[in-house]
Amino acid sequence: MNNCIRFILNGEEVSLAQVRPTETLLDFLRLRRRLTGTKEGCAEGDCGACTVLIGRLVDGKLNYESVNACIRFLGSLNATHVVTVEHLAAADGTLHPIQQAMVDCNGSQCGFCTPGFVMSLYGLWLANEAPTRADIEKALQGNLCRCTGYEPIVKAAEQVSRTRPSALFDPLENTRSDIVAKLWAMQAIETIEISSQEGRMLVPSSIEDLARILAEAPQATVVAGSTDVGLWVTKQMRSLDPVVFINHLSELQTASAGDGGITIGAGVTYSQAFSVMAKEIPAFGRLIDRIGGDQVRNMGTIGGNIANGSPIGDSPPPLIALGATLTLRSAAGQRKIRLEDYFIDYGKQDRRPGEFVESIFIPYPAEDTKFAIYKVSKRRDEDITATLGAFYLTLTDDGHVGDIRIAFGGMAATPKRARAVETALMGEPWNESTIEAAKAEFDSDFQPLTDWRATADYRQLAAKNLLTRFYLETTGAPTELKRFAEMA
Ligand code: FES
Ligand code: FES
Repeated sequence: MNNCIRFILNGEEVSLAQVRPTETLLDFLRLRRRLTGTKEGCAEGDCGACTVLIGRLVDGKLNYESVNACIRFLGSLNATHVVTVEHLAAADGTLHPIQQAMVDCNGSQCGFCTPGFVMSLYGLWLANEAPTRADIEKALQGNLCRCTGYEPIVKAAEQVSRTRPSALFDPLENTRSDIVAKLWAMQAIETIEISSQEGRMLVPSSIEDLARILAEAPQATVVAGSTDVGLWVTKQMRSLDPVVFINHLSELQTASAGDGGITIGAGVTYSQAFSVMAKEIPAFGRLIDRIGGDQVRNMGTIGGNIANGSPIGDSPPPLIALGATLTLRSAAGQRKIRLEDYFIDYGKQDRRPGEFVESIFIPYPAEDTKFAIYKVSKRRDEDITATLGAFYLTLTDDGHVGDIRIAFGGMAATPKRARAVETALMGEPWNESTIEAAKAEFDSDFQPLTDWRATADYRQLAAKNLLTRFYLETTGAPTELKRFAEMA
């Protein structure tokens, strides 16, 4: 048993024996270290003012990613390299080329958002030597600016990639081998446990260790990416005790396409899952691009999105429509269930005491399957879903519905299949009159709520119209329906 977490903060090795279970990285930086370049805007992972980079070893390689320090817990940082905006300029005050480009291009007015933009651009700079405009826009999806406007900031990104100077100017490129050696030495080879007045936090050394911890403390909150749990703390002021961090467990980080389907470990982030999902199921890749910004995608996990059972989680409906299965694990062994059976009621999942989500298996869609995911939200980027529909269809040779699975989020207390709609479609000819008849069945499947994201009526109408859209996209039918959809 170890009783401190160790990480590197800019150029300094840090060892902490006093950590509250839900202490955020942002509070640590600003309050304990007075590194106030990292700002607090929203405290919920939306604005990007708190963006820092975190370097960690993935398959032995050092990988730096942008994250939101406001919802990242200190306990999740063992064996990582935390890089803040203070680390960029040279000791003599010479600005990093990215900072200089922001000055040259007038990329800052009030400056509150600027450190966050700089850090997001720095993450892009490290990962991509020749970013396109689309790459730049994607890297900045998670950063909001209310004064400057985005064009000068994008121009700064373009300028710095055009005139990319020697790596000698870069503080991280110069220290990679040293950092790698230090991070190896910091890996948790035994359980880390830290107790304080506010409770305990634990960092297991393996999934066997995780199973043991949860057998002893089944009430523990398991935290992977903290993009959801972080808000329980910063917005709802909840106390959590104990908290178990799993984001570092390599056994939970497999994302692979194998015989029959794709396996995603519960600790795989959206960013890590992107390449395999975009290749095998392109619609899922496009959905990932609409989940948060890069910072959230670099932290949030599909496993966490499922485990928490939110009715508006973006990944469960498409996974249900694809027929995904879940592997749950505990000290007693493994158990497999259909994902759709995991969600029982609001806040209630089929997870027994001591169990945790280990992985998700997604079978490849059958040949000639038509599959689509539609996310409806007020903003295109970085917004929470009002309703999300996923449609999986195979047709018989004579154009009848051979198999149909439709699942929605934001329409009920859990992610849920539209069973009555499916029954109305199954075996019927795939045509307008079948669609029109089936749409009425949404009223038996769902009685959505009104909240500030959408009214119940809006959700119901949107769901029906998404079925129309799916029909039109699968047939290209030049009909009255299509004209209506184009106007909508
Ligand atoms: Fe807004 Fe962290 S303070 S994303
Ligand atoms: Fe003021 Fe961006 S410069 S918010």
